Amino acid sequence: MRRLVAADALHEAGDLRQAELLYRELIDRFPDIWQLYFNCGLLLFESGRHEEALESYLRGLAVNPASDDLLYNAAICQKELGRYQAAIEFYLRALAIAPDAIDSLYNLAGCYRSIDDEHRAEEIYRDIITLAPDHLPSLNNLAYLTHKKAEIKSARQLYEKILEIDPGHVSADFMRAALSGETRTHSPDSYIEEVFDEFAGHYEQSLTAKLGYDLPSSLYDFYAQHLPDHKPEHVLDLGCGTGLVGEKFSTLCRSMTGVDISGNMLEAAHHKNLYNSLHKAEIIDYLDKCPGASYGLVISADVLPYLGSLEELFKKVLSVLADGGHFLFSVEDHPDDVLNPVLQQSGRFAHSKKYVRKVTGQAGWQMIAMTTLDLRKERNDWIQGSIYLMCPHPVS
Ligand SMILES: C[S@@+](CC[C@H](N)C(=O)[O-])C[C@H]1O[C@@H](n2cnc3c(N)ncnc32)[C@H](O)[C@@H]1O
Repeated sequence: MRRLVAADALHEAGDLRQAELLYRELIDRFPDIWQLYFNCGLLLFESGRHEEALESYLRGLAVNPASDDLLYNAAICQKELGRYQAAIEFYLRALAIAPDAIDSLYNLAGCYRSIDDEHRAEEIYRDIITLAPDHLPSLNNLAYLTHKKAEIKSARQLYEKILEIDPGHVSADFMRAALSGETRTHSPDSYIEEVFDEFAGHYEQSLTAKLGYDLPSSLYDFYAQHLPDHKPEHVLDLGCGTGLVGEKFSTLCRSMTGVDISGNMLEAAHHKNLYNSLHKAEIIDYLDKCPGASYGLVISADVLPYLGSLEELFKKVLSVLADGGHFLFSVEDHPDDVLNPVLQQSGRFAHSKKYVRKVTGQAGWQMIAMTTLDLRKERNDWIQGSIYLMCPHPVS
């Protein structure tokens, strides 16, 4: 099969057009060789042509219905196409042939999570750990799901197990600290990026539809109430996520800039066409490099709970503000008068009113208005937070 070797070589060298032509020619001549459909499917998938890749795998399965490789890859296509139930069926068929295939089990669990069957997903992660006790992604997912059910002791043990296997595991270290009541001043950047990259695909559905999150509207109403005639020219949205703030504020201003550490969240914001520019950056790094004082309004909606200490933030935002500019932001409240950020079991920081007053005052801010509100639900309870509208202190 010299031509198959040649097609594979072209594929490997990245000449996908020529490789595809050769595969198709070979399929016409040898329609009973299932590997040709498989290889061609891989190429099509790699080119982002998921529907065509699936079709190739299905043709291969018509020749060899017992190929777990074809079933596995057909499942991946269905998942990529957002057809989770169909993907589950293919994974189950692949697993009927190769029951201990970790990748199939792991992806199957992911599909169950995508259709909100976390119970089934958890069972599968446990099966994987029985087969492969050091499988970190399964341990990590299991820790997350256990934590979500508020089974704190079990979740902490799982994070500890992850750290035994990989002492440098940043997310597990941070979450173990959160569950153990340890003091931290910041969330690790890689942890935030990982969490929101993972969350991006279902962020809006989860937050707005299920958890009652409507903070961008509350911020908009609050701003309009206190500064009714203000129309800032340029608005900076720090931690813009999928662009929910842009949906509210973009009609108020001439240009909107969004900054976020998560590429997947930014991708969703990009599709809304509301921002004139979007930057993938850590907020403090972005503010450090930001050229000059140009923003009439800086907004940060539900982002400060991920930052921890706020001293730097308040200093740096001042430096990018245009004359007459404002900072509008939210925090999760800490009920006591603690003078430092408090890492909660959720992995987010709470900030007391006294702490916010202290750090904003020290940085040179003056409060225009503040109000307390329900931010969103966590399990069945509302999380209490506050929104603040500030301007630079006239003497600073
Ligand atoms: C809960 S979401 C809020 C998104 C958006 N503001 C909204 O109201 O829907 C928090 C966002 O802040 C981003 N974020 C958190 N810490 C960050 C940091 N240090 N630098 C950049 N982005 C950060 C996350 O990636 C995430 O997209």
